[in-house]
Amino acid sequence: MSHIRILPDTLANQIAAGEVIERPAAALKEIVENAIDAHATRIDVTLRTGGKSYIAVTDNGIGMTRDDLALAVTRHATSKLPTDDLVHINTLGFRGEALPSIGAVSRLSITSRTANADTAWILRVEGGTVHPATPAAHPMGTQVEVSDLFYKTPARLKFLKSDPAEYAACKDVIMRLALAHPHIAFTLTHNDQRIFILPSTHALAERVRAVMGTEFHDQTVALHAEHDGLRITGRVGLPTYNKGQSNHQYLFINNRPVRDRVILGALRGAYGDLMPQGRHAVVILFITLPAEDVDVNVHPGKAEVRFRDAARVRGMMIAAIRARLATVNATATPARDAMIARFASTHTPYLSHGSAAVAYDYAASAPAAHPALFDSAPAMRPAAYASPDAMLATESTQSFPLGAARAHIHNTYIVAENTDGMVLVDAHAAHERLIYERFKTAMAAHDTLPAQRLLTPDLVTLDDVRVQALLSQTEFLSRYGLEIDAFGVDCMQVRAVPLDLSGRLNLSALLADLADEILEKDSANTLPDRLLKKLSTRACHAAVRAGRPLNADEMNAILRGIEKTPTAAQCNHGRPTFIKISRADLEKLFERR
Ligand SMILES: Nc1ncnc2c1ncn2[C@@H]1O[C@H](COP(=O)(O)OP(=O)(O)OP(=O)(O)O)[C@@H](O)[C@H]1O
Ligand SMILES: [Mg+2]
Repeated sequence: MSHIRILPDTLANQIAAGEVIERPAAALKEIVENAIDAHATRIDVTLRTGGKSYIAVTDNGIGMTRDDLALAVTRHATSKLPTDDLVHINTLGFRGEALPSIGAVSRLSITSRTANADTAWILRVEGGTVHPATPAAHPMGTQVEVSDLFYKTPARLKFLKSDPAEYAACKDVIMRLALAHPHIAFTLTHNDQRIFILPSTHALAERVRAVMGTEFHDQTVALHAEHDGLRITGRVGLPTYNKGQSNHQYLFINNRPVRDRVILGALRGAYGDLMPQGRHAVVILFITLPAEDVDVNVHPGKAEVRFRDAARVRGMMIAAIRARLATVNATATPARDAMIARFASTHTPYLSHGSAAVAYDYAASAPAAHPALFDSAPAMRPAAYASPDAMLATESTQSFPLGAARAHIHNTYIVAENTDGMVLVDAHAAHERLIYERFKTAMAAHDTLPAQRLLTPDLVTLDDVRVQALLSQTEFLSRYGLEIDAFGVDCMQVRAVPLDLSGRLNLSALLADLADEILEKDSANTLPDRLLKKLSTRACHAAVRAGRPLNADEMNAILRGIEKTPTAAQCNHGRPTFIKISRADLEKLFERR
């Protein structure tokens, strides 16, 4: 007797599903791609609980006959490879794998009707068991419904994220496919709420605007480059318009949404040091090249591709983006590089915190506003110095480790003098850190932050993904002094805010930040700490970053605060908050020694 056996279809399909359908968004992507391949001009998507309990996609495409329906849920059955040519694939699907995989791990029903059939047919698959098709009523086109994804595989269910996070992934799928197919009208409904209606259009730019919004449009510039069959077109974000996550990069190869490593790497290369550490550029790029030059058949979810000449694609992308950004911000890169090279080569050894500290200053400030610390005298305008009272600081203040504040320059840095030399402090970073430590102490002592009830609730408009993320955590957020309620699909009502944040707080920016943290990773226990950091950043914006110079008392209060807080030498992002330069170092800098 043989030990080797051919796996039954149901099992084979379940195994295949593990690769293709790892979450609701993946199933949704496959179903919508099928609708696009069926030449639909209108696609309606309905979701419940982030797609976990229900996904429905209705299209007005070519539909399927009764016989086709049965084949559609059979493995390796596809209408999309009429010849054996794997190179010139014009459809999104070609493996004949998606529907059988979805059917193996859910309750799937497909209702479909072709142009010249006199009735529609409905076919049901339950956990891999295919029931015979029966007549149904339906207009031309197809409706695919998926209920209770993974109900047969509880192990996979456990790996799903919260409803808001799964919903966010589903919406992202629809946005990407809608960007690639502007001529198709899309609607999206979630938990009975209409999320968007995208009318059909022939203008890509119009669709981009409808999907991405005005802010994206204002913060990005159009890009177009073309050479020898390779074309790159789209919009690239200004370096100052960056995000904490890389999922704001919308990339398409031959009109297929991808998350390809070569392209992502090229993007990082293109933005290089224009982008602060850990931040990501926002872009939409459509890369088009001959089918022979790219293999899309290398990744189960078709997210990655293989280029015949990856170096060429990479090179052209970097060159095109750099050139485009240079026209927006002509001096940014050279000035910064020259400055750092000069400082690093001659002076780094004398700095107590090394060159990383210097690099940070540049990364954090807007490229156009680089303070030319050693480059040219005019940047040191006398007007930038603080009011005379800063000069009145006594000898005794000077003997503190961080000394007496002398000036606040560029509304950012405190220049202080101590007995041993001078100190430069990044006032924002330091202040943020101090507030964070104060929040942490309060949480440790009382497990809650004091809240300030607003006289009249504030209404804040946010996109629906974020609204749902926040609503999923209302109890948790209330411990942080933040009381919020639902108010429509893309709006919320704020009734209380943390005490330290009242005043000039930018509520919508705060809520957007907190929502992003919640979406980032819901199960993780790092959420409390990340929320505290966001709160302190925003508290700092509300206080110090009011855009006015600090007075001597405020500056000295920050200096004394840092001295008293053991962990305050680094900001919440791990960068130094201050740099000390000793008198001896100063003398070496000026070659007095
Ligand atoms: N919405 C639809 N309208 C018309 N035909 C469809 C639709 N959805 C699926 N089909 C038919 O069912 C077949 C099987 O679909 P399925 O998604 O499983 O495989 P595929 O699209 O061919 O390849 P892939 O596994 O790469 O997606 C398709 O080839 C197509 O003929
Ligand atoms: Mg398919």
